[in-house]
Parts: sequence; C-alpha cells; structure tokens
Amino acid sequence: MHPAIAVPIYAGLTIINGAMTEFCIRHWPFTANAARKIRPFWLIPHLLISLAPVAGTFLENSHMRFALMGVGNIYLGYFLYYGVTLALLMLFAGLATLITSRRFSSLYGIILCLSLICGFTTATYGMFHAQEIQVRRYDIAVDKPGKDMTVVFVADLHLSVNSELSTTVKMVDLINRENPDLVLVGGDIFTSSYEALFDPQYYSSALSNIRSRLGVYGVYGNHDVDEPLLGGFPMAPLSEAFRTPRMEQFMKDSGFTMLSDETVLIDGFLQLIGRVDGEKAGDGTNNRMSAAELLKGIDRAKPVLVLEHEPREYHELKEAGADMVLSGHTHNGQFFPGNLIVPLFNENGWGYKVVDGLQTLVTAGIGYYGPPIRVGTDSEISVIRLTFQQESGT
Ligand SMILES: [Fe+2]
Repeated sequence: MHPAIAVPIYAGLTIINGAMTEFCIRHWPFTANAARKIRPFWLIPHLLISLAPVAGTFLENSHMRFALMGVGNIYLGYFLYYGVTLALLMLFAGLATLITSRRFSSLYGIILCLSLICGFTTATYGMFHAQEIQVRRYDIAVDKPGKDMTVVFVADLHLSVNSELSTTVKMVDLINRENPDLVLVGGDIFTSSYEALFDPQYYSSALSNIRSRLGVYGVYGNHDVDEPLLGGFPMAPLSEAFRTPRMEQFMKDSGFTMLSDETVLIDGFLQLIGRVDGEKAGDGTNNRMSAAELLKGIDRAKPVLVLEHEPREYHELKEAGADMVLSGHTHNGQFFPGNLIVPLFNENGWGYKVVDGLQTLVTAGIGYYGPPIRVGTDSEISVIRLTFQQESGT
C-alpha cells in the first residue's frame, strides 16, 4: 500500500477513534461537565502514542526508530479492539436512539467503559497467548515408495523488535522433543528488517540448536526482505524490497539450508523442492520459476514435497507432479476476526486439506506481524508423521 493512501487511512481511523471517545465523554452525565478539563489528559497521550507506528515506519534506522516501532505495534493491538468495540456499541446506541426516539445518556458511560475493558483485556490476553506454542500433529500418507519419517514444520517466525527470545528457545525445545528426521521452515523468518531484531546472534544461536537427522531446510517468505511497514503493510514499492546479506548470513549461522527454486534429494528418495516466494523474490522483483519449470526434471516415481511460503498455485503444482505442499503466511488470520476472513481468500487457509488431489498443509506459524497478538488462533509447530509405501526388501 502506498504511504499516500495508508497514512491518511490510519490518521482518519485515529481521528474517528478520538471523536467517538470525546462524544461518549461529553454525553455521559458523569463526565459531561468535566469533558473540557479532562480532554488534555487523554487526548494528548492518545495523539502522541498514535504517532509511534508512523514514526517507527519512516524514521531512519536507530534505537529510537525500533523502540517506536515496538511501542507502535503494541498500541495497534489496543487501538484495534478498543476502536472496534466502541464503534459497534455506538452503532447499536445510535440505532436504539433512532428506533425509540429516546436519548440513552448513561449508555455512553457503559459503552466507554466496556470498550476500554474489552480493548485492554483482549489485547493483553493476545500478547500473552502469542507466546504459547501448540503442537499440532498430522498423519500424512504418500502413495509412493519411501521410508517413513517424522517431519517438523514451522513457519512465520517473524523475528523482529517485538520478538521474545524465550519463545524461540521454547520452539527449538519443542522441535527437539519430537526427535525429527527432517525440519522444514516455511519462510518469514524476519519481519521486513534484520536491524529491528535486537541481539540477532542470540536468536541464530538458539536456532542452531535444532537437532534434525536429515537437516534443516527452509524457504524465504515475503517478509524476508528489507522494507518499511505500517501496521504490517509494506510502505515501499516492490522494486525496493531486497533481502540483505545479513539475513542470508543469519540463516547460515542458524544452520538452515535455504532453497530458492531448488531441489534436494533427502535420504535418497524424497524430492524436496523449495520455491522462491511469489510476491517478493528478494531481488526487488517477483520473478521465479513457474511450477512447471521448477518440477520439470523430477522423478514422478518418487515422492515430491514442495515447500512454498504462500499457499498458492496448488493446481499448477499438482499438474507439475507435486504430491504435497507445505506453506505458512496466513497466520490463520492471527487475531479475530482475521481467522474468519482467511478461509474466504485461500483454498487452504490453515491446517491439512486435499485440494485437487494434492495434499496441502498450512501452518498458523510461530510469530506475528503488526500487533504482537494472537486472538482466536494459536502459535504452533506442525509435527507430521509422513508414511510411504514400504520399499520391497525393507
Ligand atoms: Fe508471509
């Protein structure tokens, strides 16, 4: 989204939020007489903190920028649930006034208090809940010869200014407890900035502790590039979105083998294909090989597992010979009502689903972007018991 559109939208929402708050204070008999006196005490802090996300987006890299970015992201969670609750309740109050032709002055006090309570409790719960990791288990059979294995799949770590190192450590511990044969990482390791990650060496050190018999393989996602974000939305054109060498070095330090339109043969039979992200290739373009080009040389007698950040092009991948696709990106909507919207725009927005005969799995991921909250969805790792036709003699 262009800043010329995003900033006025954000400013407009902030003004509407402030105007609704002022309306409630003025019409609630308890505060009506003191409305003018108390205005500076809520309006000035509100305006100052609402500038944090914008400043965090457009300032040059500095500790101040990243601090404002972190505060701004947290603020957006509270802003969202307070503002939406306030707007909905005021709509009901307005309709009640229209229908009954009566003014419910005391109702505005209830609306204001309910909105504050709902905004505070929901966003605070969401911040704590986002740090809890669930383990989701899947049994998936591929009708081709191979050796059964345990695959742990994670995605959307979204390491950034609001990340908790303890959550990454917890994730590594949960992965290792499964004694995985193979660990796969489905992109969005960063949130559009390497510099926003405080103490990156601690994170790469934690990630390097993942124990996997056959290795750790990953792909990059649309946020594994350097670009400014406002509320999670990119504020620069695609031509300026580049992956930095530091991001690539971080992956090496973490012990991950990143695949960019590449195929590797795992354990002599599993063809693992890592796709370049279709939205941001990391070189200022969205160029990548088509599904047909990428899978051209595969052996269709052997299993083909595609790792792709965004859950798209299922039909093209099936046509090209893929047996299974693992993706992330959707976060399962991350916070309500996003979890209700995601299924409307994705053939598979979350979990396991067979699409056109292709086995697909989409994880909700570990991290978050925009507000550091999860409401109505979980941070998760996916543990897949992958079974194959047993090869003769085994
Ligand atoms: Fe993504």
